[in-house]
Amino acid sequence: MQQSETPQDDLFQPMIWHGSHLQLLDQRLLPHQEQWLRLEQIEQVADAIKNLAVRGAPAIGITAAYGAVLAARRCQQQYPDDWHRVWLEELAELAQTRPTAVNLRWALARMQALELSDSNAFALLEQEAIAIHREDIACNQQLARSGSDLIQAGSSVLTHCNTGPLATGAIGTALGVIIAAWQQGRLKQVFADETRPWLQGSRLTAWELARHQIPCQVIIDGAAAWLMASQSIDWLIVGADRIAANGDVANKIGTYSAMLAARAHGARTMVVVPWSSVDMATATGMQIPVEQRDDSEVLSLGGQRIAATDAAAWNPVFDITPAHLVDFLVTERGVIAKPDTEKLTALAKADG
Ligand code: MRU
Repeated sequence: MQQSETPQDDLFQPMIWHGSHLQLLDQRLLPHQEQWLRLEQIEQVADAIKNLAVRGAPAIGITAAYGAVLAARRCQQQYPDDWHRVWLEELAELAQTRPTAVNLRWALARMQALELSDSNAFALLEQEAIAIHREDIACNQQLARSGSDLIQAGSSVLTHCNTGPLATGAIGTALGVIIAAWQQGRLKQVFADETRPWLQGSRLTAWELARHQIPCQVIIDGAAAWLMASQSIDWLIVGADRIAANGDVANKIGTYSAMLAARAHGARTMVVVPWSSVDMATATGMQIPVEQRDDSEVLSLGGQRIAATDAAAWNPVFDITPAHLVDFLVTERGVIAKPDTEKLTALAKADG
């Protein structure tokens, strides 16, 4: 993969489509280096998703959609008579790169549903990928409005993982709400869990908040309960990788503990997602596949082993928060208080 300079853009987007290639900000190097990758092949896209150069459910879906466009171009060149079959096989492999974020499969399903011919395939696929990207940005604008409306002036908030522009097409979901609420003068304090083991909170969320001139205090994940017990925290605001039909929430490991602490200490909880993260085909959170990643993410830090020699690890990178711990589910289709199957089904039917 080649590297290049940071593109200039008013609305910060972590991926930029250039027709012949996708430019992607390498999130593994943030906050200390801003390097952009140039992706020309679907294998490079798969590698970027699998190895976290891009992460965050909506950003993964958008990147995969652009990957499908790149794949179609090469398949048509290399297998003119059989390109569609090979293309579908390549997409099936891409879909396996990260199992929990449903946006990946959702975006690829949208690309596969197009009626393609030999002559129109590239143009139609490119159009659809750009539409997926643009719709995500518009959706996030709506989420920021709806979510910030719920927050009363003078509030203190805690967030977990990274749900800002980097995790989406632009703007962000939960962090988009926090940024909007800050800009509206509603927030007193913003706390961010550092988010072990990959440190999306201290590396990415703190970086994004600084870009918006929003002061933020990073806490270790284990401090969340004590923060809520010892200071007044009004809201815990998070995103999700997938919402089951009953409102259960799959999100970055540590979300469940923070949600339990919020319930115990009277902080309200808000989960902010695009509808593309809602999986009505999965009845409850317990059916959502939870990605397990390499032990080394837990046992090492910055490439240096910190755990005792011979120690092994258990590294599920998501957890499932039961719906009864969610006070508000914010989507572009509407805001649901105390989500459950009945309310989500009604919302799915309303606009679906
Ligand atoms: O492993 P990651 O960094 O892809 O996990 C990201 C999260 O868990 C986010 O909270 C979630 O995808 C929502 S992003 C808007």
